[in-house]
Amino acid sequence: MKNMLIGDQWVGASDGRTLSVVSPSNGQAFDEIPRGTAHDVDRAVQAARASLTGPWGQLNAMERGRIMMRIAQKVLDHEEELAQIEAKDTGKPLSTARNDIKVLARYFEFYAGGADKLHGETIPFLNGHQVSLLREPLGVTAHIIPWNYPAQMLGRTVAPALAMGNGTVLKPAEDTSLSALRFAELALEAGLPAGALNIVTGLGEEVGAALSGHPGIDFISFTGSNEVGTLIQQAAAKNAVKCVLELGGKSPQIVFDDVDVERAVPIIVRAIVQNAGQTCTAGSRLLVQRSIYDTFVKRVAEAFAKVRVGTPEMDLDCGPVMNPAQHKRVQRYIDQAREQGIPVLAEGQIAADAPTTGHFVKPTLFGPVPRTAALACEEVFGPVLAAMPFEDEADAIALANGTEYGLLAAVWTENAGRLHRVAKSVKAGQVFMNCYGAGGGVELPFGGTKRSGHGREKGFLALEEVSTTKTLVHYHG
Ligand code: NAI
Ligand code: MG
Repeated sequence: MKNMLIGDQWVGASDGRTLSVVSPSNGQAFDEIPRGTAHDVDRAVQAARASLTGPWGQLNAMERGRIMMRIAQKVLDHEEELAQIEAKDTGKPLSTARNDIKVLARYFEFYAGGADKLHGETIPFLNGHQVSLLREPLGVTAHIIPWNYPAQMLGRTVAPALAMGNGTVLKPAEDTSLSALRFAELALEAGLPAGALNIVTGLGEEVGAALSGHPGIDFISFTGSNEVGTLIQQAAAKNAVKCVLELGGKSPQIVFDDVDVERAVPIIVRAIVQNAGQTCTAGSRLLVQRSIYDTFVKRVAEAFAKVRVGTPEMDLDCGPVMNPAQHKRVQRYIDQAREQGIPVLAEGQIAADAPTTGHFVKPTLFGPVPRTAALACEEVFGPVLAAMPFEDEADAIALANGTEYGLLAAVWTENAGRLHRVAKSVKAGQVFMNCYGAGGGVELPFGGTKRSGHGREKGFLALEEVSTTKTLVHYHG
């Protein structure tokens, strides 16, 4: 049984209720976390508020940066322990989990360095006046994160907020709260003052709704589904606070006839199967110029058929999907595509000794997928790749931009002019050219257009999102 962190107290839920922690690899419950309440959220928001006038708020930017650097080192010192926790909780292969923990540390390192580097400015104004712009924290920032990359998401959203001196309240996903709780212990050991980071575990409709609607918060960062993203923005509107939303995507790999095949194929396969396709930036659409469609897709199919699925300890290409609801959702997309007669070009394999009670799905490559099919337009959030032919550059751009999403895209061609023309025409927050995916990509501003959301995380721009300015006008005569 784990406790959650409010101020400097490790506590259970105010009404004592708990949630089971279930392994995606075998469906067995192996721990418990508090099922937090609105009352717990209220206390966490108060603790975060109090931190702003307590020891945390007294620190200067350099001192905040130093503490964050110590947190990064603590995480690295406990990399294996945290990776084991993360792998057990999410089902992902151990090497993926190890990388996720490295990225968590990297977020704290990067933003530790940023803490004292977002400067204000002076502004020319009327004679006799001196105008300066101060950079200030927003206040209490709320962070609601999903279950696909729990440790990375924590780093991505909490680290910049701490760097700017905010008091933070984190609600991890109910399925994956364990790495956040262990991280918080390490952060306190590294010297993070009480109240700077509070964690309330529990259900979205309970803790998430209470936190996003709390009148005491100044900002919400949310990553997850479109449905909940809309609720978050409504809650933010009621309190007139800003929100940053990252709501997934249907990201295209746009492959032209002069592609470097040897380079592109493994990257394209990895971009959809890693983390069992449960990645907001998954490259889930494979758009290939018709003149090479058959030969290129055949090469992808050969690589796809070699994908192996298993438990974290087996450490194969990917693990199970998160929970029974996700399993049902992904399997439904696969079954419906088959019923619609969309050809299956390749399937990966589930390891023979993977537990039958685990939430495993077979990675599946479909093609050609009709442009109006659900598989061509909707986020599956599983290891399912939809191949589609296009005619020329204009058709490629229209097809790439033809979904409601706009998070990532990749363009594959050896023609530099085409590379840049297409990259500029595609609606996405990041475009990769002859490569794919941010992996960690901590330095690279990231976020959506269209229904993929708004606001920017990662990189230096994230610091602007979680801070504000105050204009000082001084008449000196
Ligand atoms: P979700 O949006 O319900 O969950 C994400 C987070 O929001 C969790 O922490 C959850 O507890 C919280 N939440 C849920 N309801 C809430 C509410 N009413 N108020 C405040 N917070 C709330 O996502 P879910 O249901 O787990 O997954 C469904 C689909 O969402 C996936 O199949 C996928 O398509 C998409 N998704 C996208 C993610 C991304 O990285 N963009 C991550 C997770 C899910
Ligand atoms: Mg949900």
